[in-house]
Amino acid sequence: MPASLAPRELAGQDILSVRQFQRDNLEPVFALTEHMREVVRRDGGTDLLARRVLAALFFEPSTRTSASFIAAMERLGGSVIPITQGVQFSSVSKGESLPDTIRTLEQYADAIVLRHPVIGSAQEAADAAQVPIINAGDGAGEHPTQALLDLFTIRDELGKLDGLHVAMVGDLRFGRTVHSLTQLLAQYRVKLSFVSPEILRLPLDLMNEVRGRGLAVQETYSVADVIGEVDVLYVTRVQKERFTDLAQYEELKGYYVIDEAIMAAARRDMIVMHPLPRVGEIDPRVDADPRAAYFRQVQNGMFLRMALLAGVLGKA
Ligand code: NCD
Repeated sequence: MPASLAPRELAGQDILSVRQFQRDNLEPVFALTEHMREVVRRDGGTDLLARRVLAALFFEPSTRTSASFIAAMERLGGSVIPITQGVQFSSVSKGESLPDTIRTLEQYADAIVLRHPVIGSAQEAADAAQVPIINAGDGAGEHPTQALLDLFTIRDELGKLDGLHVAMVGDLRFGRTVHSLTQLLAQYRVKLSFVSPEILRLPLDLMNEVRGRGLAVQETYSVADVIGEVDVLYVTRVQKERFTDLAQYEELKGYYVIDEAIMAAARRDMIVMHPLPRVGEIDPRVDADPRAAYFRQVQNGMFLRMALLAGVLGKA
């Protein structure tokens, strides 16, 4: 895995972890993302990736991420082999190994997007593949493209990253988007607050890494402790699929609900984000508040993935 990637250096590379991205070469990725946004708004898309094929292999349910990659590829003039309907319809249900599935798909496709329930599966796929592998979530591990679009959204909405106070709320233990975004934000001069029930605290190794960088860090159980100060409230769903004890999930799932009363205590220039899907963590009445950025965040995902696909396929 190369240490550091700008869009042009992405050519032929896998995207497995946010650790591949350093703040100095994130700016070119974001500039290309802005360019993709202009192109889509002006012309609907381009033919940059005409006749290129992406395989989208999703072993876990996905609406946004799969649709986002498909839309991104098609707006670049390419096409997609969508294997997103669950493995029950595929050869995997016959017992095929992940490396074999990957080595088969790369005979058809120029790159493969993979979502899989096991941590490290994206790396396993990359070890087997000749074509670039893009990690679209490996269990409770990482979700690098989500974190990049999250970071792009913060910068786009608030105009900067340094100096911000970002609070992550909810399932910080199993939420892979939180794990990836925390690592990216740790490269900036930010204050990070982690708001969760005891049992869903951020993994200790990640906490130690953030503290090791000398960032201001706060942990609390209560949104009220931070709501008046934060620039970004990043809300997450309790990750039901990672629980072995469903009774425990039921106890935790309604722990935080961001509603109009909570928003009344928040700053006027802050934003609320969520990787979605939400299952009750944000009251739909908050959607009309201009500070609710989560649907704009979804659209940014398509532009950001257009930039990454162009980079990986050597057209950036
Ligand atoms: C997230 C995921 O799959 O990790 N969703 C997404 O990609 N937008 C968050 C989640 O499922 O809670």
